[in-house]
Amino acid sequence: MPAALLDGKKLAQTIQGEIASAAAAFEQKHGLRPGLAAVLVGNNPASHIYVRNKRKACAQTGIDSWLHELPEETSQVQLLDLIASLNADAKVHGILVQLPLPRQIDEATIIRAVTPIKDVDGFGPENLGLLVTGQPRYVPGTPAGVHQLLIRNGVALAGAHVVIVGRSNIVGKPLALILMQKAAGANATVTVCHSRSNNLAALTRQADVVVVAIGQAEFLKADMVRPGAVVVDVGINRLKDGKLVGDVDFAGVSQVASAISPVPGGVGPMTITMLLQNTLAAATLQTK
Ligand code: GUN
Repeated sequence: MPAALLDGKKLAQTIQGEIASAAAAFEQKHGLRPGLAAVLVGNNPASHIYVRNKRKACAQTGIDSWLHELPEETSQVQLLDLIASLNADAKVHGILVQLPLPRQIDEATIIRAVTPIKDVDGFGPENLGLLVTGQPRYVPGTPAGVHQLLIRNGVALAGAHVVIVGRSNIVGKPLALILMQKAAGANATVTVCHSRSNNLAALTRQADVVVVAIGQAEFLKADMVRPGAVVVDVGINRLKDGKLVGDVDFAGVSQVASAISPVPGGVGPMTITMLLQNTLAAATLQTK
């Protein structure tokens, strides 16, 4: 395999060490810990695993967390009531509502109900608006994690052409905003494409860095990548045989890329780490 590995698991451990030191200093100074309320509605098995992993990472870094588990048939009003009580609870600095939500609940309404200063997922209009206007506060975890994975591995972004495959509100769109910022560690030229883009391979082949977040197992093949490009895989898909794979054909693409992130152990641990960082920032902003 000629490509270097962008090891998110190892980098996440390093950054979580930094967060743990900062959380300990926060506790020393204020006599309380940063606190995250996690809200999990329904029975989605992947969501249960994600929330368990997020809470474990909180415990390891000195951040308090509380789990609010609600049944699949929860109404939108019941969930809004819970969010209102968490918005008003001074111990809770950050609120995480794990997505997706059951179909009777409108996600956009729930996201808007989280008070912006506790919106540590960064999904609400105020935090996204701050990012759009170059004043980032809480940047969504997955795109922030991709950004850190690139810059802390020394990938040059200034002037580079980054092609993002996927335009979701939680990955593709905010990642484009982060990478095109006029700031150190950014200044990239960004193209966002998606499943309806004409001649997608011609676009990805122009990239210095390709980021794939399209939700299709092993979608990006070696012939879609310029030799020497850097490839980041945001996908996580389970094949029929139970194997976990990303949106990148790892065996093929790792033969042409200069660096590539694995699945698992790439972007996933970085997403969790950025949530911890936002929770610490939220505690700092809310504590005099
Ligand atoms: N579902 C998939 N990714 C995420 C995430 O980063 N945060 C939340 N809350 N839900 C998700």
